[in-house]
Amino acid sequence: MLILDDTVAGEPPKLVKRVRLPSVALDEWPANSGPFCYTDNMTSQSQISRDCDSASPENLQALYDMLLASRHCVAFTGAGVSTLSGIRDFRGKNGLYKTPDADKIFDIDIFRQDPSFYYKMTKDFIYGLGDKKPSVVHKVLAELEKRGILKAIITQNIDLLHQKAGSRRVIEIHGSPSLHHCPRCAWSMTFSEVAAIVRAGDIPRCKKCDAVLKPDITFFGESLPAEALAEAIEEARSADLLLVLGSTLLVYPAATLPEYTLEHGGRLVIVNDMATHLDAAASLRFSDLGSVFDFLEKKLKC
Ligand SMILES: NC(=O)c1ccc[n+]([C@@H]2O[C@H](COP(=O)([O-])OP(=O)(O)OC[C@H]3O[C@@H](n4cnc5c(N)ncnc54)[C@H](O)[C@@H]3O)[C@@H](O)[C@H]2O)c1
Ligand SMILES: [Zn+2]
Repeated sequence: MLILDDTVAGEPPKLVKRVRLPSVALDEWPANSGPFCYTDNMTSQSQISRDCDSASPENLQALYDMLLASRHCVAFTGAGVSTLSGIRDFRGKNGLYKTPDADKIFDIDIFRQDPSFYYKMTKDFIYGLGDKKPSVVHKVLAELEKRGILKAIITQNIDLLHQKAGSRRVIEIHGSPSLHHCPRCAWSMTFSEVAAIVRAGDIPRCKKCDAVLKPDITFFGESLPAEALAEAIEEARSADLLLVLGSTLLVYPAATLPEYTLEHGGRLVIVNDMATHLDAAASLRFSDLGSVFDFLEKKLKC
């Protein structure tokens, strides 16, 4: 059984950044969920890693075959899936964390002290999202859902691009900026109303009590939306194939979700250009989202 650290009984866990190993040690995983390398009959769980870590035509075809053979495929996405849409991730090559103070943008204590800091820092990053278009990754995931192959997307992203691409079952475990609420009286405004105010250099305020509105994004130090987290855990458990796309797996408790899949005998495919702590447990591992999803787009002819 997985244990979500920092959980206070009865409350959903809080969002934290952490560098640590998974809460289930690799050698404790059930034998039938251990690493394996794809073979033609998809049953061998022999050696892994190096030969699986390449975008060779064989491995790309193996990914396609695994998708078609899956019973309940789920995607777990991070900020990396949106870099192809021109949105900076946190820790990648051109990540936001290279900008001074960027790590404070989503800190709930800082927001409570001075909400203008969040609105100043996200004027383009979040409130310019209206101009951003889904990438090949978003589009192919939407197509896979349409064809009944993909059952759900669990996303850490707050950029609304999966929905823009046409995906329907999107579980936003870190919330969403689509609504902004008053922390005092719960009055709310939509994303486009707030975006117009922020783009004009102002801060959105409650029409009833004048408090500064907060986006429904989960900030570091806040609890995750309980319902979304419960749905995400259920999907991760049910998945016989989990695609882990564009995430460093350093933000908790989200990063524990792939472990639910492994614990229940499902397989992981990881696509990320930096190492993650679950690489050795992946059936297939690729580095470049663009080339993997260009390949899938061609195969699906979408
Ligand atoms: N687009 C967004 O909504 C957005 C943007 C920035 C941060 N965030 C928030 O950041 C937190 C950070 O966690 P995270 O793990 O999602 O992001 P992260 O920045 O920690 O990791 C992103 C990973 O994707 C990789 N990557 C980027 N482009 C890639 C590509 N084309 N191909 C392969 N790999 C690529 C990066 O190297 C990095 O390892 C999340 O809570 C999320 O809410 C969201
Ligand atoms: Zn109010």
